Amino acid sequence: MAIRGPRAAKPTEVGAVLKLANDVFRPKAPVMGRAFPTLFRPENARYLRIFADGSRPVSLVGACVYEMAVFGCRLRTGNVGSVCTHPDYRGRGFASRLLDDMIALLRRDGVHVMDVSGGRGMYQRAGCVRTGGLLVYPPITAEQAARLVSPAAASPVDYSARYLEAMQRAYQREPVRYLRPLREAALLTGMVGTRGEGGRLLVLARDPSGRPALQHRREGGPRGRPRGGREVVGHLEMRFGLREGVVRGRVNEYAGERAALVASLAGVMAHLGLESLHLVIPAWDADFIAGLAPLGLTPTPTGTGHTYRIINLPVLAEALGDYLRERLGETAERLRFEQQGDRYRVRCGRAAVTLDSPRATQMVLGAPQGPAVPKAARPLRRLLEAVFPLPMILPGLNYV
Ligand SMILES: CC(C)(COP(=O)(O)OP(=O)(O)OC[C@H]1O[C@@H](n2cnc3c(N)ncnc32)[C@H](O)[C@@H]1OP(=O)(O)O)[C@@H](O)C(=O)NCCC(=O)NCCS
Repeated sequence: MAIRGPRAAKPTEVGAVLKLANDVFRPKAPVMGRAFPTLFRPENARYLRIFADGSRPVSLVGACVYEMAVFGCRLRTGNVGSVCTHPDYRGRGFASRLLDDMIALLRRDGVHVMDVSGGRGMYQRAGCVRTGGLLVYPPITAEQAARLVSPAAASPVDYSARYLEAMQRAYQREPVRYLRPLREAALLTGMVGTRGEGGRLLVLARDPSGRPALQHRREGGPRGRPRGGREVVGHLEMRFGLREGVVRGRVNEYAGERAALVASLAGVMAHLGLESLHLVIPAWDADFIAGLAPLGLTPTPTGTGHTYRIINLPVLAEALGDYLRERLGETAERLRFEQQGDRYRVRCGRAAVTLDSPRATQMVLGAPQGPAVPKAARPLRRLLEAVFPLPMILPGLNYV
């Protein structure tokens, strides 16, 4: 049979593409369709790039294009994952070619950033790089979490679909978030627990008097609210499991009132039976960081573990227009962001700096150890330091 590609899967081929992904990633429990419901659906066939041997897909690079709100600006991200080649077809460059094809497609489609859930050589050769913007805390114990309890605490309740609308209302208040239309949010919340490790989505509920919900009698409440008139003040997507004899948990995504989140960590740990909790907090989240300060811990700068690539710097800069103007005033109009293929250039008046893709990406998103603004004439450098790195987001439910 002739091997053809790279090309988009046809909507009618999504089942065959899903079979390839299940055969490679989940041969024993074929859950990829439920784990990645926004990826493996006919509407997303354009972003399932494949090589096929005759009619059979043998190599895949998948993506979901999502929109994000970042301090009032609307950014488009291509979250790439489910990269796989059937064992009989490996080592012929198929996955690498599909990745290049995906980058070209995302660029044509006006996507700003690519987020790849991996860091192997293939991704690095395609210009993807580890970035920063997050702080990793030493794991906290139940005793430490107990010291953070305050009257702001809310009760963790296992998510079910009736909390969706209330959860969306709390999520909408986030300054850095994915834009999740209700239907997409329903799909993404439905997959929790299917991605391998123990996963749980918890909503934090409080009654209007401020008392944690579980102290109260449970009665039926209006749609979109927890029972008993309780209010959803936030949520946490958790992963947990037994490691080296200790039940460890990590927060994969969170949203909501920071005082409530911090004060509820002890309740969350008790609810899931966690002995240790791993927190990774975006560096821009001053309220969460201040809430953890009583523990006296020193966090270490880090990134998500994914690799990233700026797909289209001038289009990204345009989308960031309001953000740049708010930080720089009129000077923002003099900053020029240019890109030709893999060469990126930033100019302000006669000062200019030219960058390759990894350095441009780290300029915008930071490096794991901290900001990574390139060497440039002092005035240009000062401008770049004033706006970068951009606030980072945890991939969370939108992980692909
Ligand atoms: C990773 C994978 C997608 C590569 O597919 P491929 O079509 O063989 O890719 P290419 O020929 O373009 O080579 C790319 C990479 O695969 C490696 N590779 C090539 N032939 C291989 C083989 N027979 N077995 C294992 N790895 C192989 C290459 O060394 C290269 O590795 P690098 O990224 O560390 O530099 C494929 O090995 C696979 O499906 N692995 C299991 C799923 C997986 O780990 N996916 C990646 C998740 S981040």
